[in-house]
Amino acid sequence: MRQRSPAVLLQLRLWLLAVSALPAFLGVLAADLSKEPFTIRISCGSFDDVRTSPTDTLWYRDFGYTGGRFANATRPSYIIPPLKTLRYFPLSDGPENCYNINNVPNGHYQVRLFFALLDNPNLDSEPIFDVSVEGTLFSSLLLGWSSDDEKTFAEALVFVQDSSLSVCFHSTGHGDPSILSIEVLQIDDNGYNFGPSWGKGTVLRTAKRLRCGSGKSAFDEDLHGIHWGGDRFWLGLQTLSSSSDDQSISTENVIAETLIAPNFYPRSLYQSAIVGTDRQPSLSFEMDVTPNKNYSVWLHFAEIDNGVTAEEQRVFDILINGDTAFKDVDIVRMTGERFTALVLNKTVAVSGTTLKIILQPVKGTRAIINAIEVFEIIAAEKKTLPQEVSTLRTLKGSLGLPLRFGWNGDPCVPQQHPWSGVDCQFDNTKGNWVIDGLGLDNQGLRGVIPGDISKLQHLQSINLSGNSIKGNIPTSVGTISALQVLDLSYNELNGSIPESLGQLTSLQILNLNGNRLSGRVPASLGGRPLHRARFNFTDNAGLCGIPGLRECGPHLSVAAKIGMAFGVLLAILFLVNILRAQKLAAAREAPYAKSRTQFTRDVQMAKHQRPSESSRSSNNESSPHLLS
Ligand SMILES: *[C@@H]1O[C@H](CO)[C@@H](O)[C@H](O)[C@H]1NC(C)=O
Ligand SMILES: *[C@@H]1O[C@H](CO)[C@@H](O)[C@H](O)[C@H]1NC(C)=O
Ligand SMILES: *[C@@H]1O[C@H](CO)[C@@H](O)[C@H](O)[C@H]1NC(C)=O
Ligand SMILES: *[C@@H]1O[C@H](CO)[C@@H](O)[C@H](O)[C@H]1NC(C)=O
Ligand SMILES: *[C@@H]1O[C@H](CO)[C@@H](O)[C@H](O)[C@H]1NC(C)=O
Ligand SMILES: *[C@@H]1O[C@H](CO)[C@@H](O)[C@H](O)[C@H]1NC(C)=O
Repeated sequence: MRQRSPAVLLQLRLWLLAVSALPAFLGVLAADLSKEPFTIRISCGSFDDVRTSPTDTLWYRDFGYTGGRFANATRPSYIIPPLKTLRYFPLSDGPENCYNINNVPNGHYQVRLFFALLDNPNLDSEPIFDVSVEGTLFSSLLLGWSSDDEKTFAEALVFVQDSSLSVCFHSTGHGDPSILSIEVLQIDDNGYNFGPSWGKGTVLRTAKRLRCGSGKSAFDEDLHGIHWGGDRFWLGLQTLSSSSDDQSISTENVIAETLIAPNFYPRSLYQSAIVGTDRQPSLSFEMDVTPNKNYSVWLHFAEIDNGVTAEEQRVFDILINGDTAFKDVDIVRMTGERFTALVLNKTVAVSGTTLKIILQPVKGTRAIINAIEVFEIIAAEKKTLPQEVSTLRTLKGSLGLPLRFGWNGDPCVPQQHPWSGVDCQFDNTKGNWVIDGLGLDNQGLRGVIPGDISKLQHLQSINLSGNSIKGNIPTSVGTISALQVLDLSYNELNGSIPESLGQLTSLQILNLNGNRLSGRVPASLGGRPLHRARFNFTDNAGLCGIPGLRECGPHLSVAAKIGMAFGVLLAILFLVNILRAQKLAAAREAPYAKSRTQFTRDVQMAKHQRPSESSRSSNNESSPHLLS
């Protein structure tokens, strides 16, 4: 309850923020350095906005989440922002939960999540789960993440295209996903453009960021980087590998050309470097990677060594996994000057589990490197057709889907974590996922089937068997033309079977048995075996009209009822007239009271002589009228 009103206020504030920041994004491709990029930071589980030292960073109170609970956090690593609360998602809240952040201006963002542990010794301490952004799975927390600084956060570069950003947490059954903070930091629209296959169809996962030659890990903010660079975390390294004896060097000189669109780097990133030694002039760096992925490698250089003052004094080749990525790199020649940044990028396909970068001198002195960035290139998932997503949400409410279903985020993606009970198919013509099956049998559902279900026009199969679904079968179901299987058996559906189901020419199985349906089975279904489809209408007390069910008795037809009542009426009127004539004749001899008694008995006798009439249609109620 308490969480709701601050969230509303916050939405408003974010909207104002978005509006005020809007001019920065309209029609401006490259970052406008005079403006601040759009930024949202959320302190998950917090009731209040929080400011953290030393940079006085503002974190908004928690909002935008689909479920979960708040708790105090234990931060396992020193690089994690000093926030005190987190949000976690018990399995009872569903296998996937999300943050949906609205009013985010379309553009390119660095999205970063920090993880922490619940400050509760009774709970499983280190959860393992998957994380997706905009429907694309980009991070899987692995056993031991909480004891490795670099694994306590996940970061992706992603495009926002519909003014909202969704970040989802997918349970893998190993503890409750928990999240400390979410940062949405705008970067240049063209940031980290690695070539032709870069763009809105790709998500870049940050796999590694190293600053070489400085022992200190740091964020852009600590290094006085500008905000358009995001706020990258750079792990400090003094040596590229424990087995080599490379050296650190540094300079106080100002480095030029670090703020060149689309990427903006802190100057101090280039003020330190690792260099080879005379004994081992080449440099070698190796990291573990997920096999069979493409990686985008960014290498940063600046000639800061006092021993190198001109071209040709340091020339080296760069090999990545044995292939020459760059030949004859001569920093001074390529930048034209010393103390000037040089950024090279290369995309490589890696089949094994290691990515190895070797800088091999070919002329002059030993190799040098200032910083390394490695991104995994992930194909962005296409989303589910928006209309189908909103229809599923309607269905979730109408059918009364239990909380444990989740049904948050996108139904079909990430493909590793589709919604349970939903079958998806990729529609090549639309370029979206669509829903082709609903399997919610035996789930204890107690709601009704909404007419909107027909908006899921690609459904081929619906199985809602074995629930307690009430109400009618919506007529609109007859418009789901691709439907092959409709199993609504063993529910509490009532009313009649819509004629429209006869339009389902692809139907192969129609199970409506075990409900409370009534009326005549539409001729379009029962009268002819439609395309050899299999029907089951049994165990519906009120259904009639096809072989196997009882015949539709005339008493069930309103017209028949009226006709029958009219016949009886005529017969009685006829009798009454005869009796009245008799009565008038007898009146002269007998007392009035006696003749009346006689009359009543005669009428009743006449009635009982018509055994074919059902008792319901009798004229019990109308006889007093006739008598009076
Ligand atoms: C979190 O910690 C504070 C003290 O720092 C305590 O008052 C509060 O009860 C804790 N909340 C939960 C949910 O454990
Ligand atoms: C990255 O490399 C590609 C091709 O090698 C080049 O076209 C592109 O401009 C480079 N990107 C940046 C930002 O330097
Ligand atoms: C890697 O990139 C190549 C060329 O762009 C592409 O054909 C291939 O599918 C990519 N591999 C993966 C695993 O994404
Ligand atoms: C629907 O689900 C029920 C219960 O799980 C199952 O017995 C039935 O075979 C399914 N119907 C069809 C048509 O597959
Ligand atoms: C069907 O059942 C609902 C209650 O679940 C009731 O309101 C409605 O009148 C019933 N309709 C028919 C046609 O029996
Ligand atoms: C139809 O449903 C009834 C139960 O309602 C079941 O006993 C019967 O076997 C079903 N018939 C067919 C042909 O599946």
